[in-house]
Amino acid sequence: MGISVTCVDVDERKIENLKNGIIPIYEPGLEEMVHKNVKAGRLKFSTNLAEVLDDVEVVFSAVGTPPDEDGSADLKYVLAVAKNIGENIKKYTVVVTKSTVPVGTAKKVKATIQAELDKRGEQVEFDVASNPEFLKEGAAIKDFMSPDRVVVGVESDKARRRMARLYKPFMLVNDRLIFTDIPSAEMIKYAANSMLATRISFMNDIANLCELVGADVNMVRKGIGTDTRIGKKFLYAGCGYGGSCFPKDVKALIKTAQKVGYEMEVLQAVESVNEKQKSVLFNKLMNRFNGDIKGKTVAMWGLAFKPETDDMREAPALVLINKIIRAGGFVRVYDPIAMPECQRRIGDKVTYCKDMYETAIDAEALLLVTEWKEFRMPSYPVLAKAMVNKVIIDGRNIYDAKEVAENGFEYYKIG
Ligand code: UGA
Repeated sequence: MGISVTCVDVDERKIENLKNGIIPIYEPGLEEMVHKNVKAGRLKFSTNLAEVLDDVEVVFSAVGTPPDEDGSADLKYVLAVAKNIGENIKKYTVVVTKSTVPVGTAKKVKATIQAELDKRGEQVEFDVASNPEFLKEGAAIKDFMSPDRVVVGVESDKARRRMARLYKPFMLVNDRLIFTDIPSAEMIKYAANSMLATRISFMNDIANLCELVGADVNMVRKGIGTDTRIGKKFLYAGCGYGGSCFPKDVKALIKTAQKVGYEMEVLQAVESVNEKQKSVLFNKLMNRFNGDIKGKTVAMWGLAFKPETDDMREAPALVLINKIIRAGGFVRVYDPIAMPECQRRIGDKVTYCKDMYETAIDAEALLLVTEWKEFRMPSYPVLAKAMVNKVIIDGRNIYDAKEVAENGFEYYKIG
């Protein structure tokens, strides 16, 4: 039978679309999974939380926590859901926060629910829990189905037992389910993302230094990553991290610390290195053309903040496009999935091309921004024929410098 799930959203169109099998985002394997579970009767969609609450044992609140003006996480959606739950629960329910929220939020959720129950003059038992999500976009299903770990912050045995039962099917190895207190679970999410962002900014800093002293960051990465204390993952230098998580969570943790009178010096540096890094491809382009790209056409491969997604939130591509246009250049872009999203964000400031080679027509340089698989083995003769100058600037270090040079191209990479 499995677990029955009803997804609730206030956006009626989104729910209507989902009922008709239309998925609002691109995520590999998601469409098939949704269709399969809808067919099996395990997955439903609704806009009415009150009705759904009558039948469930656990509610996951996974609404957005966008940064407000000062970079803190804005909790208005999280607390609106809590209020709605408080107005409508009738039996014991575990209310789990999935959204990335600052330490102390579960307390506010609890107080909000309790305040509504008090208004109703009713006693209904409930528990709050914190269950941060660690999946990566583009690998969401795999990450969720076989997680490295599941962290659940609870404050009662009853909630702990219920959450353990819920996660049992995903726990081939039992010690992957880690129970903590609630503030620690909330902190684990920010600490994990901040640590990963730190590794990336650190490697970007090392990459920039490598260029100045004649070292190769790819070799350095291999050399340090084989130390098991350091590990191989998330050491890739590039043109800056983007997405909805690292930039937002690093900023929010800095803010959380400031509010209690503490300064996160390392994270402040992580953030400023990343901001700088988003301009690295533009700076290389300008250097190559002696500071003048006026009237020049540039080909750009990749728009999404990473492969396998159409997400362009905080994408380095956006910074790059704006800078090139401001400097008087023209941009021809191609991305396998994110072109409609780019058009929605910036309109027709750039030329959208039907494939990767069309971007190269009359281009003076090719910028690789997102490392989609299809960009990894380009046909150099086709590129050479289309381009005015044979210049490749690789923002993700995916090409073999020797091979590129053998094909008659100038090659610039990160570090
Ligand atoms: C990140 C975390 O990896 C997830 O564990 C977390 O659940 C998620 O945020 C979240 O908080 O929701 P995501 O933003 O989907 O996941 O993508 P990542 O694969 O982590 O990549 C983030 C950015 O870092 C991308 O721009 C990527 O290009 C960049 N990156 C990643 C590097 O520049 N170098 C690396 O070595 C790895």
